[in-house]
Amino acid sequence: MIQKIRFYINFWFNGVSKYNIHSPMIHEFIENVLDNNIKYYAFLGIEHYRKILLKDSTLLTLNDFGQGSKSIKSKKITLKKLTKKVQSTPNKAQLLFKLVNYFQCTNILEIGTSLGLTTAYLSNANKKASITTIEGDPIIYKLAHANFKKLGLKNIKIINSSFDETLPKLLKNKFDLIFFDGNHSKEATLKYFNWSLEYLNDEIIFVFDDIYWSKGMRSAWDEISKSSSVKLSLDLFSLGIIFFKNNREKEHINLIHPCNFY
Ligand SMILES: C[S@@+](CC[C@H](N)C(=O)[O-])C[C@H]1O[C@@H](n2cnc3c(N)ncnc32)[C@H](O)[C@@H]1O
Repeated sequence: MIQKIRFYINFWFNGVSKYNIHSPMIHEFIENVLDNNIKYYAFLGIEHYRKILLKDSTLLTLNDFGQGSKSIKSKKITLKKLTKKVQSTPNKAQLLFKLVNYFQCTNILEIGTSLGLTTAYLSNANKKASITTIEGDPIIYKLAHANFKKLGLKNIKIINSSFDETLPKLLKNKFDLIFFDGNHSKEATLKYFNWSLEYLNDEIIFVFDDIYWSKGMRSAWDEISKSSSVKLSLDLFSLGIIFFKNNREKEHINLIHPCNFY
C-alpha cells in the first residue's frame, strides 16, 4: 500500500490534467471514454450476476498460475473471495466496455479470463465483435464458461491453456485490442508484449492492467512505453493504454483523472 502511494505521488508530479492536453484525438478519447458517465443497460445484468457470485461460498481448489492477487496465498479459496479479489472492478470493466464501444473493436483478445466478468463487458460492448480469452486454471475456466452461458454471451471463445503455450500461435490473428491481465511479473509481461509486437498493425490497441501492482510491473510498463514501436502511451495509473498509429509523434502522458483510482 505504501509503495502504491509512493508510485501515485510520483505519477502525480509528472502528470497532467485533461486541460493541458492539446491532441484532439486524446481529447475525444477522454470525453467519449473516460468522462462518459452513461450506465449502459448491459451493465445491470453483469453487476447483478457479480452480486450473486459475491455471495457464493463454494470452496475451490486452484492451480498456481502466474502471479495473481497478493491477498490470495492459499490454493483453496471461496468463489466469493475470488470474485472480490481477482476480478477487475466494475468501474475498470466499464471503462473497457466504453473503449471497445468507442473504437468499435471487432477482434479482441483478453489474456487472463478469471471468472469472465470483464469478458462479459467486452462482449456486450460490441455484439458483432469476436472475443478470445485465455484461462489456464481448469476450475476457473469451467466457471467462466458456465458464466458466459448464464449471461447468454455467444461471441466469446474461451481457451483453457497456459499463455506460453497458446499465445505464439494465437497472436497470428489480427486483433485490434489486446487486454493483458494475467501473470503480473515483469518478465512475463515483457515477453507477451514482445510476442504481440511481431504481429502489429497500425490500428491495434494494447491495454495493460495493474501497471503499478509491483516494482516489476512498474518497470515493465516503463520499458513498454519507451519501446520505439509505441506512439502513444497513456498512463491512467489503474491501466496503461498503448496506441501504435504511425502518423503521430511519440508521446507519453500520465493523465490525472478520477479513473486513476478504478
Ligand atoms: C487477474 S486475473 C484476470 C482478471 C480478468 N481479466 C478481469 O478483468 O476480471 C488473471 C487470470 O489469469 C490466469 N493466469 C495467470 N497466469 C496464467 C498463465 N501463465 N497461463 C494461463 N492463465 C494464467 C489466472 O488463473 C487468473 O484467473
